[in-house]
Amino acid sequence: MIVHLFPNLESLGRLAARHIEVALLASPTPVLGVATGSSPDPLYSALAERARVGTFSPRRLRVFALDEYVGLLPGSVQGYRRELNRIFSGVLALDGSGVEAPDGDASDVGLAAEQYEQAIMLAGGIDVQILGIGQNGHIGFNEPGSDLRSLTRVVDLTDSTRAANARFFDRIDEVPVRSISQGLGTIMRARATMLIATGLAKAEIMCAALTGPVTENVPASILQRHPRLTVLLDAEASSALDIRLLRSAAIVHDWR
Ligand code: GLP
Repeated sequence: MIVHLFPNLESLGRLAARHIEVALLASPTPVLGVATGSSPDPLYSALAERARVGTFSPRRLRVFALDEYVGLLPGSVQGYRRELNRIFSGVLALDGSGVEAPDGDASDVGLAAEQYEQAIMLAGGIDVQILGIGQNGHIGFNEPGSDLRSLTRVVDLTDSTRAANARFFDRIDEVPVRSISQGLGTIMRARATMLIATGLAKAEIMCAALTGPVTENVPASILQRHPRLTVLLDAEASSALDIRLLRSAAIVHDWR
């Protein structure tokens, strides 16, 4: 585990973007796994800017979403595929492909979930999986209680997650109750993982995820066992973290 501590979001985004570039350049068929939410925004802005000026132009890049809502209204602007296509339009315009995401509109969403897991495997697996974290420790939509070996599947969203995501909808009852999410086992198969957390609201859960026990109660804690985990935190998100309690092999870079 490598933990980077940043004074501001711009510096976090710049280093994260360089890290992603280097990791993807090493692969002839690069596959990037991407999360929605505000945490990766500084990274996505930096990647988009580097794509715009031509310093980031990976060939044959494929991008896979981490999760997607089930049962959104047709044409809904809250769909993750649509949002990620907007974010990655500059990066992916190079070869005309789009972001791949689970089919939350499928008549058989269970089957769609299995097909998505297979699609990731057929693409050669994910080189780098970008992750945010929910205040209850979820990654993707793997809520507390998720099996640590779970694969892509249909999951029920907790009330707290629906409440947290209600800010993107007009009313809370419009927030779907289910989603298709890569599982914790799927995420752990990625060759590298990058967890980004910003803001005071993530301070306590980051402490639990990185220095607490590995437990289904804090799904992100499974990442402690990932052989190539990079964690990027701003000052607020790292404010409750005692770096002396990190696993002994952890490396901490303090850029503040
Ligand atoms: C959603 C997404 C997660 C994301 C989380 C945190 O629930 N499914 O992938 O990590 O929100 O979002 P934010 O970064 O906006 O706090």
